[in-house]
Amino acid sequence: MTVVVEDHGLVHAEVKSMEAMRRSGESHDRSKWGGSADSVIINFIWRQVQPAVTSGNGAHQKPAGSARKVHLQGNPRHYGRAIMFHPQTAERRGLHISFLGVDGIGKSTLSEQLVAELRGRGLTVTPVTWRSCLDADLPAWPQQALRTLWMDTFRLLFGGAVDRDEHVILPERYEEWTAQRSEDQLGRLRATASSPSGPLAAALVEFAGNVVLHAEVIRPALERGEVVVQETFPYKHVLKEYLLASELTTANANSPYSPEEVDFLFKPVEAFFGGGALSPDVGILVDGPVELALQWRLGQSGAVGVLEDLRTAGRPGDEGFIALQSASARRFHAFAQKYGWIVHTVRDAPVEENVRRGLDLVLAEIARARPSWSLMTSGTDFRAS
Ligand SMILES: Nc1ncnc2c1ncn2[C@@H]1O[C@H](COP(=O)(O)OP(=O)(O)OP(=O)(O)O)[C@@H](O)[C@H]1O
Ligand SMILES: [Mg+2]
Repeated sequence: MTVVVEDHGLVHAEVKSMEAMRRSGESHDRSKWGGSADSVIINFIWRQVQPAVTSGNGAHQKPAGSARKVHLQGNPRHYGRAIMFHPQTAERRGLHISFLGVDGIGKSTLSEQLVAELRGRGLTVTPVTWRSCLDADLPAWPQQALRTLWMDTFRLLFGGAVDRDEHVILPERYEEWTAQRSEDQLGRLRATASSPSGPLAAALVEFAGNVVLHAEVIRPALERGEVVVQETFPYKHVLKEYLLASELTTANANSPYSPEEVDFLFKPVEAFFGGGALSPDVGILVDGPVELALQWRLGQSGAVGVLEDLRTAGRPGDEGFIALQSASARRFHAFAQKYGWIVHTVRDAPVEENVRRGLDLVLAEIARARPSWSLMTSGTDFRAS
């Protein structure tokens, strides 16, 4: 069996440096490889890649700057792990920008202005959300997978939940899902606590959907040279589902899992977001008091959203919102620090003021990431709409 791994001419250099470390007995820089480097696997990969990259045997060498293919031969069970070593720098042509932060803290507001700002400077900007891909003009692969995984995150999150003495039942087909406005209906449920298996599985499906979204939508856009703006870094959703599972596990004496087991499962997922293939070129944590986010969300829609409180753990509404968002905010701080995200702190001030400061920060970071774009020369011209 032959598996083809494509990159942008960087695997050779990275593999050589791993081999140099192996020979000298030096330890591997784990942070560089997403925090889960394993010398056995590194050596395995080196043994598979070495003949191809050193002799050209089996490798289709292309001119510098274009994609290069390296054939890996060996035990296919290891290929999934090999993804962890894919160099971030492979996506050099475009730029992936992503915003992290608690619900309602102003990510979309800032992101929309950034898109307008970058387009005003002549850049091709593609805002990407999983939701927008559901009805976009996409081929059956990946769209069908994105639709079924999307519905399943809700199905799992509410798995075992009971509303007015009935188990929550959701449509299986996407056409029925949209026709019945299922997500709106979930917002009206008076759901009682569900089993921890639902949110835990939802976290993994959420992760799976974002693996597909990144590989099949974001990465091709970057390879076309576009600026991809992701208004919410999907680590947020996966973290919330994990926190819900954790809450239910702790609260339920009969839980099938211990809190430690839930943590154990989440750690590699978190590393894949932070230091693995899903991490953006420019990551911005939008930070601020969760009480302010609640106030803004209530002003916007009158109530907290279906995925914004701990309703499936029996804690709906404002109290559940503050608890879930405070726990998320603590994890976001640690994540931002660990993986070098910049932090934009919003305060109780007019939206224009917060956006102005946020744009300045993000544009400066983009200019650092892509100096040849000369972004800072024309100055920013954000005006409140
Ligand atoms: N500085 C601000 N002052 C007042 N209102 C604000 C400010 N920033 C954002 N808002 C308002 O807060 C609400 C939530 O903002 P937004 O939708 O951008 O948040 P979000 O982080 O994208 O939320 P979600 O996580 O749900 O996607 C909006 O109504 C927005 O206009
Ligand atoms: Mg948003």
